[in-house]
Amino acid sequence: MVDPVAIRLASLTVSYRHGRGVTGLDLEMATGSVFGFLGPNGAGKTTAIRTLLDLLRPTSGSATVLGLDSVRDSMEIRRRTGYLPGDFVLPPQLTGAEALDWLASLRADRSPERRGELVERLGVELHRPIRQLSKGNRQKLGLVQAFQHDPELVILDEPTSGLDPLVQDEFHRLVREHAARGRSVFLSSHSLDEVQHVADTVGIIREGSMVAVESVDALRARGLRRMTIRVADAAEAQRRLQDLPAVSDLRVSGDHLDLAVSGSFDELLPVLADLHVLDLLSRAADLDEIFLAFYRGESTP
Ligand SMILES: Nc1ncnc2c1ncn2[C@@H]1O[C@H](COP(=O)(O)OP(=O)(O)OP(=O)(O)O)[C@@H](O)[C@H]1O
Ligand SMILES: [Mg+2]
Repeated sequence: MVDPVAIRLASLTVSYRHGRGVTGLDLEMATGSVFGFLGPNGAGKTTAIRTLLDLLRPTSGSATVLGLDSVRDSMEIRRRTGYLPGDFVLPPQLTGAEALDWLASLRADRSPERRGELVERLGVELHRPIRQLSKGNRQKLGLVQAFQHDPELVILDEPTSGLDPLVQDEFHRLVREHAARGRSVFLSSHSLDEVQHVADTVGIIREGSMVAVESVDALRARGLRRMTIRVADAAEAQRRLQDLPAVSDLRVSGDHLDLAVSGSFDELLPVLADLHVLDLLSRAADLDEIFLAFYRGESTP
């Protein structure tokens, strides 16, 4: 029977000899979903991921993968998952094809039946020595080895680093297809945009602690955007905008207004229509802004 929970962290703490790794992480990831693990440099993403694969041991608490304990059942977890480490390296003298064969030979239980399709879709260079490959082309080999056995769960530490936008798009399609077939993907990223694009659920980690776990739909409903508006009369615009519930963190400099918008634009647009807007820019809020919004959200009843 398939366990409905692909990954469960229960008060997981991993301490390094000289400092914090992660502290008291709780998490439940549903089987058949894509989980995006988001956080700035040093937040603890790699530490948590390495613990899932028993490359690090919990100091306290536990990590359960496919219903199996990360320490006691590590061999079976390895057999049933695909893994791309953040610092993926291959023997430089091998060609891509030789490297993939070598990795597949380490796990004799399952043939790499998806390799051909993956190689074609990602545009992988198979016949040159690894040492001659660009960073992105090496990363593609890492993706192929993680998915080639079609594992129940794929765990990827910053999978899109170094990939060009077209390859990233194809990779995102692969991830969505994997989940559509009832399999699971856990990936870390620095980009909220990427995670929103590909994941069902987002976990935000900061300084070793989980700040929030939210469905992407819920995150979208918060609709965190940053807007810059240039208007004819900035003082008038400030007066009209500052009390709208969707608007926060409003700042004026010259004829520009910079503001955060959460939720729907419905009440904002009629006001803007009256303001003689000369220019308007709206973009997804970046990580820090999302963190701030989460903190703000936590401090309000
Ligand atoms: N081998 C180690 N010894 C001591 N401290 C470590 C070690 N590896 C990581 N750390 C510390 O653990 C914390 C979490 O690091 P980790 O590599 O898990 O972060 P990350 O979220 O993966 O960051 P990045 O986005 O830069 O990859 C950091 O404070 C880091 O300095
Ligand atoms: Mg990392």
